[in-house]
Amino acid sequence: MFYQVYVRSFRDSNGDGVGDIRGIIESLDYLQTLGVDALWLSPCFTSPQVDHGYDVADYREIDLLFGTVEDMDALISHAHTRNIRVTLDFVPNHTSHQHRWFQAAVAAGRGSAERERYLFRDGRGEQGELPPNNWMSVFGGPSWTRVSEPEGSPQSPAQWYYHLFAAEQPDLNWRNPEVVTEFEDVIRFWLDRGVDGFRIDVSDALIKDADFPDTDGGWPIIPKDPDGEVHDIYRRFRRVFDEYIGDRMAVIETGADDATVAGFIRPDEMHLAFNFRFVKAGFVAEQLRDAIDSSLAANARVGAPTTWVTDNHDTPRSVGRYSQGTQLHGSYVPATTSQIDFDEARGQQRARAMALLLLALPGAVYVYNGQELGLPNVDDLPESALQDPVWEKSGHTNRGRDNCRIPMPWHAEGPCFGFSSAPHTWLPMPDYWGRYSVASQTDATDSMLQLYRQALKLRRAHAPLGRGQLTWIESPADVLHIRLTHDGQSVDVLVNTGKADVPLPSGTVLLASGDVSDGVLPEDAAVWLEGQM
Ligand code: BGC
Ligand code: MG
Repeated sequence: MFYQVYVRSFRDSNGDGVGDIRGIIESLDYLQTLGVDALWLSPCFTSPQVDHGYDVADYREIDLLFGTVEDMDALISHAHTRNIRVTLDFVPNHTSHQHRWFQAAVAAGRGSAERERYLFRDGRGEQGELPPNNWMSVFGGPSWTRVSEPEGSPQSPAQWYYHLFAAEQPDLNWRNPEVVTEFEDVIRFWLDRGVDGFRIDVSDALIKDADFPDTDGGWPIIPKDPDGEVHDIYRRFRRVFDEYIGDRMAVIETGADDATVAGFIRPDEMHLAFNFRFVKAGFVAEQLRDAIDSSLAANARVGAPTTWVTDNHDTPRSVGRYSQGTQLHGSYVPATTSQIDFDEARGQQRARAMALLLLALPGAVYVYNGQELGLPNVDDLPESALQDPVWEKSGHTNRGRDNCRIPMPWHAEGPCFGFSSAPHTWLPMPDYWGRYSVASQTDATDSMLQLYRQALKLRRAHAPLGRGQLTWIESPADVLHIRLTHDGQSVDVLVNTGKADVPLPSGTVLLASGDVSDGVLPEDAAVWLEGQM
């Protein structure tokens, strides 16, 4: 079980209102008690923080906002003492515009080797005054930005550089061998320091159609061919991982379909890939069953384990999504309060049921910080408080992802609920945040936090959980009934997404997300039953 630490929102040790690495070190007791196996830290490298660290200016330095390389060394060694692995975020698609390579590219001018590390093209129109094509940025607006040529060189035709995300995130040219070599070296730099692996940001997008043709609607063309160039890059990376003794790994981030995703985790490529099917599915048995079957089948074809994910820093939190009971279409489209028929109690019940599903299924689970507290989305932040670049770049049409990035509440009271000693935090914490705090939930036996702690403990003790062979048992259409078997033991998992109570089959109740004391599984609940074989 990987725990995603969104560093700036986890815990602040130095009172500047932003979470940091020392804050994680101070929270290792909490993480160990919860039962995490590994951490994934959102990017904490030197960065102007335009996209909160997904714009890296120096891949071998820690941003002072979060600490120092020595702090990272200390985190790795303290975590390892507790048998917790540490993985970092690796952002290869683009650098920050403040990266020394990009600064050199702008200064060196047209046709230089420096510009070959990025995607510079001449503009269209007589003077190159129009962007090279019509592709749009994921964050809104055009994906090309014009540069001026160095003094003394001809200004025409104008050159533009490509950015899939913000203008401050220029895309690298992954067809240039120098780029590949540099990033192999960055991987070695951190693996040498004891890091256990990486999460690879927008992994599938490194190679774009080299001709940059105009497209309908301005969607970029990112080749999906399983034999395509992008896979050579991951084979190169894999050889670097394999130079190391002991387990080192990488998890691929791509929003592509199951089969394309599986292409990145063939035996000579990366180890895991995020499976976002549960992010896109509603709390609907049919959608969940399809997500499970399809992702397990796609991964079985390449012999790689699956991952299970409901929450991360890019998507509205699942408690909010399950409150609406509808399907969400991808990330970067946060639900707003007006779209939600807000029924938080229902969202909490369903999120509890999903926790039991996630932690039972065979494979790795990613839990996003605050998910174990059942944090809801905060959809009514004042516009003046919004921090996600999506808000500005979309011309104030998309509020962005701040709703799921509010700092963690540790104490029930206090101005920043134990997150920070500062008077203000980088995103404001609502005054009701204390009710979700670690302290309040530690005292309540029926809290989300206690459910996660118990489930993770049972997952370690019962071999079928997280590892078993999965079979479907016949059940009503709106009920999932899964049997997991391993080494002569079995655990049944039932999830009731319907309205009618479901009689419990035989077996001993290991854990339930709702009240099963009268022998039935109520709506919006799940149960683990230990069976005899
Ligand atoms: C990350 C986002 C980030 C984007 C650009 C994504 O996949 O998860 O948070 O904005 O990549 O780096
Ligand atoms: Mg701090």
